[in-house]
Amino acid sequence: MSNVFVHMGISLDGYVAGPNRGPKNPLGDGGTTVHEWMFKQQAFLRTHSTGDAGETGPDNRVIEDIFSRIGANIMGKRMFEEGEANWPEESPFHTPVFVLTKEVRAPWERKGGTTFYFVNDGLERTLARAKEVAGGKDVRICGGRDVVLQYLQAGLVDELSLSLAPVFLGAGLRLFDGVDKRTLALEPVSATTSKDVTHVHYALKRSGTR
Ligand SMILES: NC(=O)c1ccc[n+]([C@@H]2O[C@H](COP(=O)([O-])OP(=O)(O)OC[C@H]3O[C@@H](n4cnc5c(N)ncnc54)[C@H](OP(=O)(O)O)[C@@H]3O)[C@@H](O)[C@H]2O)c1
Repeated sequence: MSNVFVHMGISLDGYVAGPNRGPKNPLGDGGTTVHEWMFKQQAFLRTHSTGDAGETGPDNRVIEDIFSRIGANIMGKRMFEEGEANWPEESPFHTPVFVLTKEVRAPWERKGGTTFYFVNDGLERTLARAKEVAGGKDVRICGGRDVVLQYLQAGLVDELSLSLAPVFLGAGLRLFDGVDKRTLALEPVSATTSKDVTHVHYALKRSGTR
């Protein structure tokens, strides 16, 4: 059965994007510093069709594990717009991707197995469609902040992983701003650290309030 998981890069002060984000400034001012550890991993570079170089240590294994378990992705329209302007022709997902949006748009097929479907069907129906096409693999709620928090608060996520970069952004999009803490109960599963980043992994417990 498909698990539903979130994995995001986050700054030490809780931001997943800096200010002034947009297609011409993906991740916002300073936001790429949150992912610096990831950009140099072999598994990341392979997925982005930029060759076979890169690090192959424990941080790479984190990325490999994540990519290998995904059968379908779900994302919000702001994240998609940044990617549409910046991802390579062979989009880095290699699965169906459901983009939550009020915009009506035909599916967008890319090289390498990625097709973007633009949907306005609610969180649960979108997740059901993603599970249907995931072929028994897991569904990743990719981002951005708005969509991830909606899925978390709706109680539809099984696992939350955060890669905590040792940087401060000071402004931008804070993942947990405004969170209703009654809807989330976390059980720590693992934590690993390297010189560049700390990965924390939680299971989401079903709390009595949802
Ligand atoms: N640090 C990380 O790991 C990470 C990962 C992913 C993304 N990001 C960053 O996150 C930022 C984007 O996050 P965000 O919170 O601004 O936006 P987002 O979650 O990507 O997208 C929000 C938009 O999606 C649409 N939407 C959301 N929920 C919907 C629903 N239930 N039904 C229909 N449409 C829905 C709406 O767009 P419309 O009204 O226009 O349709 C909404 O404004 C970007 O800067 C991106 O780079 C960071």
